[in-house]
Amino acid sequence: MPVDVLVGLQWGDEGKGKIVDVLAPTYDAVARFQGGPNAGHTLTFDGLKHVLHQVPSGIFHPHILNIVGNGVVLDPVVFRAELQKLTDRGVDWAKNLYISKKAQLILPSHRALDRINEEARGGSKIGSTLKGIGPTYSDKIGRVGLRVGHILLPDFEARYREAVAQHASLASHYNRELEVEDLEPDFFSAVDFLRTLQLTNTEYLLNDLLSQGKRILAEGAQGSLLDIDFGSYPYVTSSSTIAAGACTGLGIAPRHIDKVYGITKAYCTRVGSGPFPTELHDEVGEQIRQAGREFGSTTGRPRRTGWIDLPALRYAIMLNGVTELHLMKADVLDAFTEIQACTHYRTATGESTPQLPDPGELTSVTPEYITLPGWNSDLTTINDAADLPINLKAYLDFLEQELQVPIRIVSVGPDRVSTLHR
Ligand code: GDP
Ligand code: IMO
Ligand code: MG
Repeated sequence: MPVDVLVGLQWGDEGKGKIVDVLAPTYDAVARFQGGPNAGHTLTFDGLKHVLHQVPSGIFHPHILNIVGNGVVLDPVVFRAELQKLTDRGVDWAKNLYISKKAQLILPSHRALDRINEEARGGSKIGSTLKGIGPTYSDKIGRVGLRVGHILLPDFEARYREAVAQHASLASHYNRELEVEDLEPDFFSAVDFLRTLQLTNTEYLLNDLLSQGKRILAEGAQGSLLDIDFGSYPYVTSSSTIAAGACTGLGIAPRHIDKVYGITKAYCTRVGSGPFPTELHDEVGEQIRQAGREFGSTTGRPRRTGWIDLPALRYAIMLNGVTELHLMKADVLDAFTEIQACTHYRTATGESTPQLPDPGELTSVTPEYITLPGWNSDLTTINDAADLPINLKAYLDFLEQELQVPIRIVSVGPDRVSTLHR
């Protein structure tokens, strides 16, 4: 079974991009199956940092196909800028990059609507990245969206005008006007650029690869707790971020899926609003933020920080069917003499539970912690998992015991080489 899926188990930014880049050489193709420019996947190697938003994270390996699947929402303007940056850095992507004709197009008016919707929410803002994700997926589900394939049709501009008129009418419900005219020249020139790329029915491409025995890595974006169904609704993104999304977002049958890599930080972060039971509002939280450089890759916003949340991880592992865990950013906890892990929640009725309560109850639960000794040493110089400090090994054993899934990778720095395999 040649398709493996890599997903974030928390609220995004777990380090998915880094691990896709590390694992990519053992695959023939890397495929994104959902999300869009709300994602920011960071890869660091040879002294350079690259942040990818819509381009799959296998793009730096010349022998690998990189596929933007049908489940993705694609902003041509952001895409062109990303590809231009790659060109400037000497990356030859043109032959290796394919885009699904069924992926949905993000229009300037979707971005404008995203902002209008957020403003209308008053005090209960989602904290959206404002990249147009929600409005674009709404149009997809409402069956009025424009797909990448539509840009090849002679009436594309007419369809575009129709969509913008609809969006203007939505905006008028909030007594707002859409201001997109100034953005249109750039949008249409980015669409012209998109027409020059390899636009195809990627479900056929992927299934042809499978019939040739090739190996595919499906790259998730966002995280399981941001999933449209199972995340902390409504403070979620608008797509299926869990492993099952790889099937519908790529056109791959479930029977082809083999491994599911679950990516988690050694602690927890969240950017945007919504419940976060183990959040730290004190100097410890600030210490994690500074040590982990926890500022958004897409928006630059400071990320909220807290201790690892095992009820949430158990839930994410269950939903995704995780077969192996990768523990990221262990080095960020180097300076701590003690670390904490939330093993259970105490609910408003006083009950202790290892499960994740409904999103609405998440603000009223109290995390129950276990305190573990820190390793209090520099992990960044270690290059063999056998040499990890004893207290970190104890932390890994503890997590494996609690989560019942082996931890196969421990990441001790942003660089490709700071990756320890167990
Ligand atoms: P993604 O969205 O899941 O791909 O994650 P992001 O790239 O948004 O955020 C992860 C951040 O942590 C990036 O800045 C990475 O360079 C960085 N990073 C990844 N792994 C490690 C690690 O093991 N240690 C440290 N210190 N930073 C890491
Ligand atoms: P990667 O792939 C972290 C969050 C936003 C907001 C909510 C909805 O880099 O892990 P949206 O723009 O999707 O409408 O925002 O989801 N969010 C992310 N947080 N990492 C991401 O992607 C995210 N993509 C969206 O902050 O709370
Ligand atoms: Mg990110």
